[in-house]
Amino acid sequence: MICVVTGTNRGIGFALTKELLSRGHEVHATARNPEQASGLKGLKEKFGDKLQIYQLDIADHQSVKRFAEELTAERIDLLINNAGIMDKGNRFPNISMADVEEVVKVDALAHLDVTLALVDKLKHGINPKIVNITSILGSIELVKDFGTDAYGYRIGKAALNMISRLLAFDLMHYGISVYAVHPGWVRTRMGGEAAPILPEESARGIIDTVSKLTINDSGGYFDWQGRRLPW
Ligand SMILES: NC(=O)c1ccc[n+]([C@@H]2O[C@H](COP(=O)([O-])OP(=O)(O)OC[C@H]3O[C@@H](n4cnc5c(N)ncnc54)[C@H](OP(=O)(O)O)[C@@H]3O)[C@@H](O)[C@H]2O)c1
Repeated sequence: MICVVTGTNRGIGFALTKELLSRGHEVHATARNPEQASGLKGLKEKFGDKLQIYQLDIADHQSVKRFAEELTAERIDLLINNAGIMDKGNRFPNISMADVEEVVKVDALAHLDVTLALVDKLKHGINPKIVNITSILGSIELVKDFGTDAYGYRIGKAALNMISRLLAFDLMHYGISVYAVHPGWVRTRMGGEAAPILPEESARGIIDTVSKLTINDSGGYFDWQGRRLPW
């Protein structure tokens, strides 16, 4: 497969890149600061031309446009919109509108922008799939179980779920599948030290899950182990 993954210098994005490369796939990986991405540089030494690294800030439309022009892949079989930020502690009634705006932009709108910029290459993909890395915290139904922290993140991931669903309908007749996937609670800078799942385990689970999903599952909301989540 020819894959594009965003936010790959650390965390789940890095683990996804490593896992896809280990399985023999070609990965076009993005980072905001590739020069500082030492892990990616290590992968480049090991995997050579199978890994291409690009600069991309998904929240900057010019950067997205430039990336789409620079991308050397002739087609895309798998796009993983992984990059994300969180506004922990932004809870009622002390909600910063600036924080909410920024997080919703990065966690939802920017993924739509990236996807639109790459859609022509996805149309040429083999069994093409888009995976939007969402969160269980974006579930409207599960607010009752997960409390009300992080307004920006919760709104952003719920919006990303809607974007996934809308695109699933609009891209269906091109044969492009779209899935919203929750990676589990993962030990990364965002997930924190107490998280029970390692990035490598999550990445393996996400890739196994996505490879089993078909166009009939497009528009679905799943966790990293393939279980359906309530919207
Ligand atoms: N960890 C969890 O428990 C958990 C649970 C549910 C969902 N998720 C989701 O999983 C995804 C990956 O999270 P993670 O845990 O791996 O977090 P992380 O370790 O904090 O990594 C986040 C990644 O996103 C990148 N990023 C942030 N803003 C960006 C922007 N504007 N443009 C491009 N890249 C940007 C970061 O790049 P920089 O290094 O340049 O900042 C970094 O590579 C996120 O979408 C997150 O919401 C994580």
